This record gives sequence, structure tokens and C-alpha cells, in this order.
Amino acid sequence: MIEEYLKQDTQFYHHGIIKVYLLFIPVVVVVSQEMASIMFKISTLDKPFFFEAAHPFIKGLGNINGDEFRYRKKLLGPAFRSNLVQERISRQFKVLEEDMLQKSQDTFQFEDMLLATKRLSEALTLDSLGFTEYKEFKQESVERMYSAYQIESFTTKPWYLPWTFINLLPPTKDGLKTRKADKFFGDFLTDLLTKTKIMMENNSSQVSTSFMQLLLKEHDTNPKQMTMNEVLKESKFLYTVSGLGSLGLVSMWILHEVGHRQDVQERIIKELQENVDIEHLENQDFSQLKYLKAVIREGLRKHATGPLAFRQASQEIKLEEKQMIIPKGSIIILDLNNINMNPFDFKDPEVFNPDRFLENKTQTTATFSGGHRSCPGINVAMASLQGILVRIFLKYRLKSLNPLSSIQEQRNVLLYPLEKCEMQFILRK
Ligand code: HEM
Repeated sequence: MIEEYLKQDTQFYHHGIIKVYLLFIPVVVVVSQEMASIMFKISTLDKPFFFEAAHPFIKGLGNINGDEFRYRKKLLGPAFRSNLVQERISRQFKVLEEDMLQKSQDTFQFEDMLLATKRLSEALTLDSLGFTEYKEFKQESVERMYSAYQIESFTTKPWYLPWTFINLLPPTKDGLKTRKADKFFGDFLTDLLTKTKIMMENNSSQVSTSFMQLLLKEHDTNPKQMTMNEVLKESKFLYTVSGLGSLGLVSMWILHEVGHRQDVQERIIKELQENVDIEHLENQDFSQLKYLKAVIREGLRKHATGPLAFRQASQEIKLEEKQMIIPKGSIIILDLNNINMNPFDFKDPEVFNPDRFLENKTQTTATFSGGHRSCPGINVAMASLQGILVRIFLKYRLKSLNPLSSIQEQRNVLLYPLEKCEMQFILRK
């Protein structure tokens, strides 16, 4: 609906904000950076009440409110540190390489880029939960990813279509499917939790930096506030929506874009040749690679994998600059995808142009949202993307086989491709 409106009237982009009514509930949609940054500063905006809908399956940082959110964010802080990432990628990148090499000669096609990047992302997610040996878990990986997708997409759909909660009830086909996936996935995570507990008992002096270790430690000291059920649900949230989902998807979209641009690849490779020590990849800080960073930011701009952020006003808000009153209880939709494609903020928004971030160093995007409920995984995500792309372009050149605009995006809570994304990897001599 919003897309159609924007196609007809770009002034909405210029205005940046609109208030409509859905039944009797005021809904405010934001599509400009200026209006988004005003909203992000308002402390009385939190996640809306209907996020609770996912509670039977996942409950975690993303769908809790107020004090509970602050408590968990502080608790999990050590696991969100980006300096853990390079070590993790060095260990787990072999997953992507193994997948690539299985099909490899000097030149080979990788028919399902999404599966490949998700497998890598799954390995990184498991590592961040505390499991370094992905090989052990590779079995059933596809089934597990499918289950995670089922849980993520069906339990978060009511976030933007609240009435679809009905589809989660057991007699419906989707309800039964989601329960089956939840059981499969829950058994897997319960097994991991048991293994982590044993590992912690055997190495009691080890400092906890993984998500599961931190959750379990809290369960030991504060079992009423952090029950085992909460530990399991938070792990599910971190695994599905935040870790596995977004990172794998973003990597896929960036590779798809760059695979169409040999000129961009030339510049990435030149920067790597001049700045990267191939022998010691795991100790390096790739955030100094300015062009690569601009490529990632442009990929994130064009493909905001979490396309919508929701808030609810716990008090009335007066927006004097727009002469607008947002009543208490209003739902605010931060349309991150359209904020990133707003032609008044980004010239030729459809063009993949990393230079826009080099020319304007203060240019920001809305991809990780903003304010006190923005993505806490931003540094982990950026460091992961840098590590993945460095390793790919040190060895390969890419060629995307699907025309640029042919891959349609499906807007769910995450931005999925509607078809397979095919790609050729060419080993560099
Ligand atoms: C490129 C990858 C990623 C993108 C594009 C992304 C984007 C987002 C967005 C748009 C939100 C919603 C924020 C809001 O409601 O305002 C979010 C929330 C969240 N993200 Fe990420 N994310 C990414 C990776 C990660 C990773 C790797 C982690 C974990 C290590 C993570 C953890 C979370 C959590 C826990 C929340 C919920 C925060 C809250 O509700 O306050 N994200 N992310």
C-alpha cells in the first residue's frame, strides 16, 4: 500500500511522515531520514504491544519492553562485542569455502547463494552462542534452517499484520507446521544448552562471552528472573531473527549487487592488495578498509534486510515542525527500506553507488534503525560482513547470473529473495 502511494506521489518522500487510520488506531508512517532521527530521539517510544504475539515461540530482546529490555541488553553486552568476530570468521569461513569447493573448478556456478551465505551465517551464529565446531552441527543444517525460517516468519508476521496471529493457532495448517518446526528447533537448542552447561561446569574459571553462557550464568544466579524457558526463548530469538536471518540475507544481497559490478570489484581487490596481510587475517581490523566499508554500507542501504521497525507512543507527541499530533497509543512504522530509498536523501537511489559514502562522510542509513531500541548487533554485523567479503575477494572474482532487477524481494519481517540467486565464482590467478 505504501509502495503504491510512493510511486504516485513522491511528495510523501519529501514530507517524510504521514498519519493514517487503520480501523480506529492511528498509524504513523515515516519515510525520511530527518523524521526518523526525530522519532529515534523520543524516549517514550517502545516496541508495540502486539510484539508479544510471538511469545509462545520466541521471546527475546526484540519483543520485550522497558525495564526487562534494559536488563537483558546489559546482560548480553559482552557477547555483542565486535572484537570476537574476526576469530569466529577465521574458524567458520571454511563452511562457505567447503560449500563452494564442492562445486568448484576454476570457474563454477553457485546456484543458491542464499543457502550458502545462510550456512555460513548459521556457523557464525552457533559460534556466537558458544559452539566453535560447526562440523558437528552441519548434519541436518538445511532442516534446521528451514525450521528457523518457519518460526521466524510465522511468529513475527503478526508484528505487522496483527490479525495473522490466528494462523499460529494449532488447528490451522501453518499453526501445526510452526509447532513442528518449533519442536525440532527447540530440541536442538535444548541439547546445546545441556552441552554448554557441562562445558561450563568443567571450565568454571573461563570468562563467559557467548550468548548461551551469559544466559545460563544468569539463570544460576537469578533463576526467578531468568528461567530455563527464558534462556531457551532468548537463544531462539538470537538464532532466528537476529543472527542467522539478517546476516546471511545481507551477505547474499551484497554479493548479488557486487557480482554485477566488475569496476567495484577492481577497487575492492586493489584496496585489499595494498592493505591486507594475507598470512594473519584473524588478527586484523578490516574497518580501516574505507572502500570496502562504503560497499557494505551501500549494500545495506539498498537492501535493508529488516525493512520495518515498529514503535508505539506511550504518550501524546507534538511534532511542531510538521504541525502534527501523534495521539497516545499510535503505532509508528519506521519504513527503513523507503527511508534508504528516499530520493531527497539519496541521489539516484536505485543505483548501487558506494562512492556516495566516500563523498559524504556523514551520510547515514536507517538499516539498523536508531534510538534506544536500535539493532544491538550492528558492530557484530559490520565486522562479520567485512571479514566475509575480505576472504571472498582475496581469492575470487564474482559474476551474478541473474539480471540485477530480476530478483524480486519479499517483504516479511526480513527481506527475502523470491527466486534463487545464481552466481559464478572465478578463482583469481
Ligand atoms: C546485517 C545484519 C543486521 C541487520 C540489517 C539488522 C537490523 C536490525 C533491525 C532493523 C532491527 C530492528 C530495530 C528496531 O526495532 O528499531 C534489529 C533488531 C535487533 N537486532 Fe539486528 N540486524 C542485523 C544483525 C544482527 C545481529 C548479527 C545480531 C546479533 C548478534 C542482531 C541482534 C538484534 C537484536 C537482539 C534486535 C532487537 C533489538 C530491540 O528490539 O531493541 N542483529 N536488527
